Amino acid sequence: MAMAVLTSFWIFLMAVCMPGGSAQMVQMDASKWGFVGTQVELRCLFVNSNPPVKISQVTWQKFLNGTKQNVAIANPTMGVSVLPPFKDRVSFKQPAVRQRTPSLEDTTIMFSNLQLSDEAAYICEYTTFPAGNRENMVNLTVYAQPTTEMTLSTPTIVARSSNRKTPVATCLSANGKPPSMITWDTRLKGEASTQETINANGTITVRSSYLLVPSRATHQQKLTCIVTYRNERISADSVILNVLYEPEVTIEGFDGNWYLNRQDVQLTCKADANPPVTVYQWKLLNGSMPNNVEIRNNTLFFKGPVTNDLAGTYVCDATNNIGTRSGLVEVNVTEFPNIPPPGGREIPQEQHSSGAAIGGAVGGVVLLGVAGVLLFVFLRRRQRTFKGDYSTKKHVFGNGYSKAGGMPAHPPLPKNLQYPEDSDDEKKPAQIGGPGGFEGSDRDFEADAEDLKRPYFTVDEGESREYDERTLAFQYDPEPEIADDMVSQTDGSVISKKEWYV
Ligand SMILES: *[C@@H]1O[C@H](CO)[C@@H](O)[C@H](O)[C@H]1NC(C)=O
Ligand SMILES: *[C@@H]1O[C@H](CO)[C@@H](O)[C@H](O)[C@H]1NC(C)=O
Ligand SMILES: *[C@@H]1O[C@H](CO)[C@@H](O)[C@H](O)[C@H]1NC(C)=O
Ligand SMILES: *[C@@H]1O[C@H](CO)[C@@H](O)[C@H](O)[C@H]1NC(C)=O
Ligand SMILES: *[C@@H]1O[C@H](CO)[C@@H](O)[C@H](O)[C@H]1NC(C)=O
Ligand SMILES: *[C@@H]1O[C@H](CO)[C@@H](O)[C@H](O)[C@H]1NC(C)=O
Repeated sequence: MAMAVLTSFWIFLMAVCMPGGSAQMVQMDASKWGFVGTQVELRCLFVNSNPPVKISQVTWQKFLNGTKQNVAIANPTMGVSVLPPFKDRVSFKQPAVRQRTPSLEDTTIMFSNLQLSDEAAYICEYTTFPAGNRENMVNLTVYAQPTTEMTLSTPTIVARSSNRKTPVATCLSANGKPPSMITWDTRLKGEASTQETINANGTITVRSSYLLVPSRATHQQKLTCIVTYRNERISADSVILNVLYEPEVTIEGFDGNWYLNRQDVQLTCKADANPPVTVYQWKLLNGSMPNNVEIRNNTLFFKGPVTNDLAGTYVCDATNNIGTRSGLVEVNVTEFPNIPPPGGREIPQEQHSSGAAIGGAVGGVVLLGVAGVLLFVFLRRRQRTFKGDYSTKKHVFGNGYSKAGGMPAHPPLPKNLQYPEDSDDEKKPAQIGGPGGFEGSDRDFEADAEDLKRPYFTVDEGESREYDERTLAFQYDPEPEIADDMVSQTDGSVISKKEWYV
């Protein structure tokens, strides 16, 4: 791409300059690069004009730090000369040049086994007659692939009580040019510290250390060093941290329910440690170990029944290479078990009681819920009876039944009055199964027959069970007297004056 653009640029220049007559030029790339040890081609083309000028000699020079040094010379009659420091690594690409012919239009050189010291500008100079000298320049950059390695700073990291950050791993990308970039990938909450040093030969060594506070939590964690060189990930090495730490001690076995005569209780000293615990030591604060105790490894076995002598504060010292830490448990002995039969001696008492408490609480909530629903249904029906129902005059006196009055628990169906829901034009009660009965009463009949088998009140009765609420309202008042504040209606229903005037 760049090459194509460059070439077309030169063609354009040639087209512009050729007609001018004295416009010879030297064509080169602006820059080239190569890795140490590889080969690179430095292009040099002489663009002659018409009439052509005569090429007397071509000289390649290294231009560095303000000074020029001859690299190679091609002469049409004398031949080719490559100078000592470059003798083995520089050659002209065109065999014709090497064969001492006068055709020196293409004096491209091949530069092999590149060294860092080869990085410089290279001048290709044409000496002509009668036009004089023409020259151009290419900048050669030499890259060096870095060598990368990752090391744990110390083979083992010891967790200490201090909060000082220490380097746990180092990643090194040495002698690279251009320098590489080092990043860390880990779940650890540490930080990286990176330094670059420039070597005498121009390469750069990058060293990055990962620092953290070593702890139990950092043990076995993965730490990955990623090296990016010239925008490319060239390595990703991981280490798993090995952090040594003192024992973390807990004592298991006391469930708070050591009652007299309980059999075969025990205490176990559990320690999380790296390296593993080598020594466990038990002691009883302010006293000596009971006689019936047997110590095996990290466990205290109390043989036989529990006695009051067992009570006390038990301490377990666990020791590994790093240090010694203690755990303690206060054992108390009760006269009786805290929980019903000691069937499961491993079941802590708290769990039991909290389970029961939860059960009780759940039961209570359910009961409350049921009560709430019952109350809600009751109130809602009452409300409808006292408000909306007056308008449709569903409130009928004299047809109530009474359980107390020795009536059957459920009214006989023919007496069961049914009212359409939310109907304004149906003012009068209809008798199901009666001569002026409801249409489609067969289905209702069946539904109501089903009802007969049920308890008198049920919570989830449908809206159509009007007789229930009527019964509820009047069952203890089979022959009511119309109160002073009630207004009698022509159909036998009454409404409250209070409601009427609202
Ligand atoms: C030029 O090169 C010399 C030695 O090769 C070095 O000491 C000097 O610093 C260079 N000068 C510059 C300006 O780079
Ligand atoms: C080539 O190098 C010289 C000096 O080292 C610098 O002045 C010039 O800008 C460079 N040219 C290009 C195209 O990089
Ligand atoms: C550059 O120098 C370093 C030490 O200074 C050396 O290890 C390295 O090999 C050198 N690199 C090249 C490409 O010569
Ligand atoms: C006995 O120990 C348990 C658990 O440590 C504790 O909950 C309880 O209160 C103690 N009882 C007495 C009497 O100290
Ligand atoms: C025993 O306990 C008392 C206080 O409870 C304490 O002052 C004393 O130092 C303890 N003795 C031993 C030997 O630990
Ligand atoms: C416990 O001690 C016994 C000997 O008393 C030994 O054989 C066994 O390996 C030990 N177990 C552990 C886990 O240390």
